[in-house]
Amino acid sequence: MPIPLSADAVAAAIQGRFGRPCRYLPSVDSTNSYALVWAAEEGAGEGAIVTTDHQTAGRGRRGRTWFDEPGTSVLFSLVLRPRLPFEGLGLLPVALGTAVAEALRSYGIDGRTKWPNDVTVNDRKIAGILVETKLIGSRVDIAVAGIGLNHDWSGVEVPSGLTDVATSLGREAPGVLPERPDVLARILLAIEELYPLVVDGSRVSELLDRARSLSSVLGRRIAIRTADGTLVGGIARDLMPDGGLKVDAERGSRVFHVGEIEQLRPIPGPSD
Ligand code: BTN
Repeated sequence: MPIPLSADAVAAAIQGRFGRPCRYLPSVDSTNSYALVWAAEEGAGEGAIVTTDHQTAGRGRRGRTWFDEPGTSVLFSLVLRPRLPFEGLGLLPVALGTAVAEALRSYGIDGRTKWPNDVTVNDRKIAGILVETKLIGSRVDIAVAGIGLNHDWSGVEVPSGLTDVATSLGREAPGVLPERPDVLARILLAIEELYPLVVDGSRVSELLDRARSLSSVLGRRIAIRTADGTLVGGIARDLMPDGGLKVDAERGSRVFHVGEIEQLRPIPGPSD
């Protein structure tokens, strides 16, 4: 078993404010569920995290389950208290994805984002992000950022649906595989740097520039599955200040705020 993501291991690795306090559960249904209750009922503040070595009911976006084998993933949830109206949170997933990609790049790995909040290496998903909120009126009281990153999947029996579309750090790391507490610490530090750009409206363009530079999607032909289930094709053109994705579709430009990119094709040439 690799080094557990225990509170002691995390405390020894983290360098910033985020990650304190840390509650570690060797196994839990979902770190997001735990963090939401911790924040709502015991007042866990901004920067508090929940870590685990295994989730029995890990949640993904759109009601999907999040796969892990004990000890082979970096699994955690970060409590944020952004004091924003709900509509102001659109850039949070974009910022979190960019932070994870930047953390991967600090190891020399070509981490990129796939809108809205997947993190990929060579077009395979390495990490997923699930933001869940609790509102008071129209304002955000709690935002829990749940992140799952595939760490070392060597010897892991990966579900058939994931083999062609997912990857892990062990497969992509060019040299020595970093330990999970170190990976967690780098992600937290990157989030700590980018999160203020979400809450400070005057710095949105700075965030967008960083997010655009790591997007695997912009300039490529995509097919996006919309909220009502239809598939829309077009060229992904830009990330918008509200977190939306601008797509040049056949019937004109559209900005999507929810949806899932199902296909990506190479950057189109001049004849497209
Ligand atoms: C997705 O890509 O669909 C989002 C996946 C988010 C998974 C993480 S793992 C830690 C946290 N706890 C959960 O139950 N989900 C998130």
